[in-house]
Amino acid sequence: MVGLLKIKIMRSFVVLLFLSLPFLCPAQAVNPVVENIFQRKSVRTYKNIDVSRDTLDILVRAGMAAPTARNLQPWHFVVLTDKELKNRLASELPYAKMLSNAPAAIIVFGDPEKSSLWMYDCSAATENILLAAESMGLGAVWTAAYPYEDRINAVMSVLSVPEQYLPLCVIPLGYPDRDNAPKDKWNPERVHYNGW
Ligand SMILES: Cc1cc2nc3c(=O)[nH]c(=O)nc-3n(C[C@H](O)[C@H](O)[C@H](O)COP(=O)(O)O)c2cc1C
Repeated sequence: MVGLLKIKIMRSFVVLLFLSLPFLCPAQAVNPVVENIFQRKSVRTYKNIDVSRDTLDILVRAGMAAPTARNLQPWHFVVLTDKELKNRLASELPYAKMLSNAPAAIIVFGDPEKSSLWMYDCSAATENILLAAESMGLGAVWTAAYPYEDRINAVMSVLSVPEQYLPLCVIPLGYPDRDNAPKDKWNPERVHYNGW
């Protein structure tokens, strides 16, 4: 009798837990795209496995699908897999040392002659690349070049970039070598409805 009651209570608990899942973890409940946004995190250590050319192409395509002011698309992308170039960049960029153990990197460049809003457009492209990487089981991290003169100069010289362009960021990427949990940044105090 007591055993039966216990089973019934347990069953009710499981049903309740199941029904409240959408409220406990709304990210999982909406759809796979939103779930992917909530799962994205900066990843700085990688397995020693190459990223295929097809995969890198998809990441750049995702970047170029971003919105841009007046649809000017003021960008270029350098895809980097060459070990020596990655090591040279890593040695010159103080906050991108993970480049030397990343199998690949994408460097996002803006064209200030084409649009004064290039940094916003390239930021949108960068986030698209980070999200696409997450969705494909890759890990990636945005490391800043712009607006730091020394980092910009390092990227320009190592990659022989024409003067007209400016690097927004370097995105080292690869297959994560460990589980990385996304940070929970939800803060209802920062949200204001219908005015501040
Ligand atoms: C504009 C910008 C510049 C960043 N620069 C660097 C960097 O130089 N090196 C680095 O390791 N991470 C860099 N990050 C990554 C942040 O440290 C990271 O996004 C932040 O800690 C939040 O963690 P999350 O990406 O896992 O949510 C940068 C991120 C942004 C948006």
